[in-house]
Amino acid sequence: MSAFHSIQWIDGAVRMLDQRKLPAQTVYNDYTTPDQVAEAIRSMVIRGAPAIGAAAAYGLVLVPWHDRTGNVEAVRAELRRADQVLRASRPTAVNLFWALDRMMQRLADPSLNTVDKLRDAALAEAHAIAQEDVEINKAIARHALPLIPDKATIIHHCNTGSLATVDYGTALGIIRYAHEQGKQVFALVDETRPRLQGARLTAWELMQYGVPFQIIVDSASGHFMRTMGVDLCVVGADRVAANGDTANKIGTYNLALAAHAHGVPFYVAAPTTTIDMATPNGDAIPIEERPPEEVTLVLGQCRIAPEGAPAANPAFDVTPAKYITAIITEKGVVYPPFEENLAKLF
Ligand code: MRU
Repeated sequence: MSAFHSIQWIDGAVRMLDQRKLPAQTVYNDYTTPDQVAEAIRSMVIRGAPAIGAAAAYGLVLVPWHDRTGNVEAVRAELRRADQVLRASRPTAVNLFWALDRMMQRLADPSLNTVDKLRDAALAEAHAIAQEDVEINKAIARHALPLIPDKATIIHHCNTGSLATVDYGTALGIIRYAHEQGKQVFALVDETRPRLQGARLTAWELMQYGVPFQIIVDSASGHFMRTMGVDLCVVGADRVAANGDTANKIGTYNLALAAHAHGVPFYVAAPTTTIDMATPNGDAIPIEERPPEEVTLVLGQCRIAPEGAPAANPAFDVTPAKYITAIITEKGVVYPPFEENLAKLF
């Protein structure tokens, strides 16, 4: 386990480590309504596909937990409203919708005919989602180990570690596990403009795990592949379509193109909860557009563009499946043809 928690249930409150403030401050916020949890997801107090899913699940638990009506029908109506509010928080990571679907399906059980029963079932399901996520991440890391050379320089994008999950991490979990297993891994950490998840969060995590790394600017990956030699790239995913096209943090596609040009293996690490068989290909994945101020101001504080300068800010891009060497899941490593081989997982 990590020395910090991205998300925890504390008797009637969802506690989240405020990732907007890292690494300068380690601050935990408590949320007691689903609307507050939705806002925390939207404003990126918590982020990363699996962590968002767990947050939404715990967000629903708050409804029966704080009910004052004692009326099961009123609680069910409020659950439906909260579900819609949470669903509207961020559009790209499919784990959000997966977790809400799983919770709402469980809570639809007609035998949950008192508010107490609804509350207990909701909490048990959210805890199960959280616990499974940790186990899934460790299984991903174990499956990936044979793909990592004993001495490896690895490019990583965004943050996919314990902060982006309930614990351990996906792509960063792979790097961490390889290090724990005695491999000499060296991470090149993309800073990940505009919100700097790499420079702020991944660097913060890797320092705690003792993994050697350097932060590089996003546009430097081609340079390092050409001059230094990079053994592999490993990134996370917000949604993998049925054909293997993968949405992940903006800049992932550029990294994949550079890897392709240099013959560097490009791996996507993703739990099966991130694979969306209902989305046929990358064109059907909704891409979140975030406020232009995230681009024109650094972390909302320092203006770097002229006042009034327009900016586009897609938070994610789609890497076509043809640039992906393999997708590493908790059920094993999936190679092309993805259309066929991803379907076998389900
Ligand atoms: O906008 P973010 O920080 O939520 O984006 C996160 C990513 O793109 C991650 O790579 C992805 O969610 C996988 S996290 C295990």
